[in-house]
Amino acid sequence: MRADSCLMPGVRLSGSTGLTVMVKNKAEVEPGTSAVEELVVDGFDHVEFYVGNALQASYYFQKGLGFDLVGYRGLETGDRNKVSYVMKQDHTFVVLSGAVSSRSDVAEHVHQHGDGVKTIAFRVKDARQAFDTAVARGAKSAGEPQVYQDEDGEFVSASIKTYGDTVHTFVERHNFKGVFAPGFTGIKKAAAKPVGLVSVDHVVGNVELGRMDYWANFYQSTFGFYVDRYFDKEDITTQYSALQSKVMKNKSGSVKMPINEPAEGLRRSQIQEYLDYYLAEGIQHVAITTRDIIATVAEMRQRGIEFLNVPRSYYDALIERNIQIDENLEELAQQGILIDSEDKGYLLQIFTKPIQDRPTFFFEVIQRKHGASGFGQGNFQALFEAIEREQAMRGNL
Ligand code: FE2
Repeated sequence: MRADSCLMPGVRLSGSTGLTVMVKNKAEVEPGTSAVEELVVDGFDHVEFYVGNALQASYYFQKGLGFDLVGYRGLETGDRNKVSYVMKQDHTFVVLSGAVSSRSDVAEHVHQHGDGVKTIAFRVKDARQAFDTAVARGAKSAGEPQVYQDEDGEFVSASIKTYGDTVHTFVERHNFKGVFAPGFTGIKKAAAKPVGLVSVDHVVGNVELGRMDYWANFYQSTFGFYVDRYFDKEDITTQYSALQSKVMKNKSGSVKMPINEPAEGLRRSQIQEYLDYYLAEGIQHVAITTRDIIATVAEMRQRGIEFLNVPRSYYDALIERNIQIDENLEELAQQGILIDSEDKGYLLQIFTKPIQDRPTFFFEVIQRKHGASGFGQGNFQALFEAIEREQAMRGNL
């Protein structure tokens, strides 16, 4: 596929939000050379999924993942096209939106992509200023600033496009006391039993072959983020497939967004499999932190959540290396949790299987110990071999 092509052969992207990856960014520069002032983002505000059945998805998030259902909007609140459920666990907010009309943009999105992430929202002090700055730097609007004022205070949001049909929404809520956002009503329901998920650690996007640098430059020149680390295809390769990745980060470290692109290998890269099924660039996984990964994963397994399997040989190799960790290695092995030691500290991580019909989006659960700041580079080999076993079972390797 040509490096400047954003579409899969024969794929039609329709609707007004379709061709965002064709956007020419005026500051298309080499990595590391853009030096714009950082557009200050406090952190991730929420993640919004567009799904085929938001009511049922909310049940999965409650019963399987331990989120509380805290807010709702839909027909009863005057929304004629879309229904949304707000899910909360500790500091993590997820919105699940479904269509109640074929005219809804949710219906078109789900038709095209299946269930997937539509919005990665950033919390900001001033959404109008963030939007104006981003657009002045070449970002395309996905929604002009909207200012809501009522007895709950003031709420401002505005959106710009990023890769595929995905958008970033700037959310300004420091003067707002209502339920999640204007238009939402609170839900009085017995609280779900949490599994110990705390906050969004990082959000990973998959882009087309040859587009990683373009989108890394977009985050540099629009947001003033920097390339925290770069993994080339020699770092991330297995017998069959390869990928490369750039980790974009803001100065405070509250936003970490790796961007993957497929690399040529003997067989189809896992990134290419995602692109083939999502039919666009998009969000591959969201990593959520926990303070006790063994307890969290044990509880999730108990509730029927499925994870990628790690072979016993992975743990035997760790025992041989005599790796020093606080946890009991056998307990980690029992849960299939991966370990990666760094210069400073180590991290524990695990990946769910895809959580919808298409082999696209999945969750990561992560615990950073003693200041670990990486992404599990030492686990890439084991992880990607595990993914390839699943890919092979789907007939896609
Ligand atoms: Fe990750």
